[in-house]
This record gives sequence, structure tokens and C-alpha cells, in this order.
Amino acid sequence: MGHILIDSVCKEYPNRRRKPRPGSPGTGKYMVPVLDHITLEFGEGEMVCILGPSGCGKSTLLRIVAGFEPPTAGRVIIDNKRVERPSSDSIFVFQNNGLLPWMTVWENVELGLRHLEDREAKNERIAEQIEIVELEGFEQHYPHQLSGGMRRRAELARALAVNPNIMIMDEPFSGLDFLTHMKMREEVVNMHRFTRKTTLVVTHDIDDALIMGDRIVVLDDRPAKVKLDHKLDFPRPRDFEKLPELSELRKQIFLMQGVLYAV
Ligand SMILES: Nc1ncnc2c1ncn2[C@@H]1O[C@H](COP(=O)(O)OP(=O)(O)OP(=O)(O)O)[C@@H](O)[C@H]1O
Ligand SMILES: [Mg+2]
Repeated sequence: MGHILIDSVCKEYPNRRRKPRPGSPGTGKYMVPVLDHITLEFGEGEMVCILGPSGCGKSTLLRIVAGFEPPTAGRVIIDNKRVERPSSDSIFVFQNNGLLPWMTVWENVELGLRHLEDREAKNERIAEQIEIVELEGFEQHYPHQLSGGMRRRAELARALAVNPNIMIMDEPFSGLDFLTHMKMREEVVNMHRFTRKTTLVVTHDIDDALIMGDRIVVLDDRPAKVKLDHKLDFPRPRDFEKLPELSELRKQIFLMQGVLYAV
């Protein structure tokens, strides 16, 4: 479970600045193309990192895969079924502010387990997820009583509890300080190793993508096309200094994004 086929997906949005006059022919020219025939196939359990310039359509692509928005053309097929609407059982969309502020950490994690009848099994499962993300002792805290990094870890626990086939993360580390970012990245890699769920991560950070991904996809500027789709067959933990091939790829991707001298 968790196989994803993005089949020639296109997306256009109306141009907000150029409204068509009523009755004018060819409304097509008032549309802005955002995604241009994106075709990608992700295997079960793959961790795919998606890079691309700001505004190129990464979040749009994730929203289409999650079923929040229809594509203008093309289709998304997940486990042989066409995506037509969101499915909270099989896809979890990780949000940076996804916790409900009026609920404790425990209650937030419990949200994903509403269907579980057995109280004891449920409690055990909640405690287990909280332990995995090392938030024991904070079960009765409300989100505003946690640090930014802890809130993201609580959100991870929520995702783990739901046990979806697919995890979708749009810039999960944005706004975190350097060390918290590194720890959270490790947390996501461990979670993936442990659960083996198909995971799509959009990031701005080339190093994040190369360290985390089983696969890296680079999108071109708007309208987004697939510029690079590369498998990363490198052992983990990954160290650029010990992996010259990975270092070389890093340089190439920086170049692709218009940076000549990556540091
Ligand atoms: N609902 C919408 N209506 C109209 N235009 C939209 C809508 N959503 C996104 N767009 C446009 O589509 C383009 C792509 O947006 P998107 O949010 O997917 O980019 P992104 O690659 O995620 O950018 P960033 O890296 O800054 O998050 C942008 O130009 C944006 O203005
Ligand atoms: Mg975005």
C-alpha cells in the first residue's frame, strides 16, 4: 500500500489580475499554468523529497495528490484507485500548526484513533506514540505550553497514531532553529525507517533532500515540469564528505537552482 502514480498532471489557476470581461471569448488565456504534465511514480514505502523554486507549484502538487484539489488535466492513482477526494484514513497531511489548541497533547494524538473501541488498547497506542517522539511527561500540556519543536513532534505522534499509508509533509522544518531542524529531520528519517510509509516531503533545503530521500525530484520554475528525478542509493546516515558521488550531485543541484559555489 502507498503506491502513487501522478499521470500527466496539469493545473491552471485563474489569473487574479486579469479578469475576463463578461462574454469575452477564450477565457483560456486568463488562466495561469502552474503544473505542466507532471508524471511521476513513487513506490510503496519510498521517501521522496521534492525541491523547486518558490511559487513553482510544489504545494499545489501535494494538494492534488492528497485529493484536496482536482487537477485541470491528468490524474493521480493511489493503489490502483483514482484520487477524487481527500482520504484521511490512507493519507496524513502533516501540518506545522496542525494541533488543536484547545486539546492536550494526549487528546490531539487520540484524535487519530477515534475508531478504536478498546479503551485499553487505545491508551496503550497513544502512550506508545508519545514515547516514540519523546514527549512523555507532556501528555497533559496544551500546544501553547510546548516549544515549536515539541509541537512538531506532537504532530508527528498524531501522524504515527493514524498509521496512514502515505505521509505528506510540506516544508515540515520551516521556522525551526538550526538544531531543532536537525533533530526533527532525524526524527522524520527514523519514523520513516520504522514505519516504512510512503512519504512525500517538500523542502527548500537541498541538503535535507539529499540526506533524507530515497529519491529526489527537482521541479522547474512555473509552470513546473520535472527537471530531475533521481534515486538516492546511498547508505545512512549520510555524510557528504564520505560520499563523493552525493557531494557531486549536491553541486549539480545547486547549479540547477542557479547557485555556482555551494558551501
Ligand atoms: N488557489 C489558488 N488560486 C490561484 N492561484 C493559486 C492558488 N494556489 C496557488 N496558486 C498559484 O500557483 C502557484 C504555485 O503555488 P504553490 O503554493 O503550489 O507554490 P510552491 O512551490 O509551494 O511555493 P513555495 O515554495 O513558496 O511554498 C503560485 O503562483 C500561486 O500564486
Ligand atoms: Mg509551498
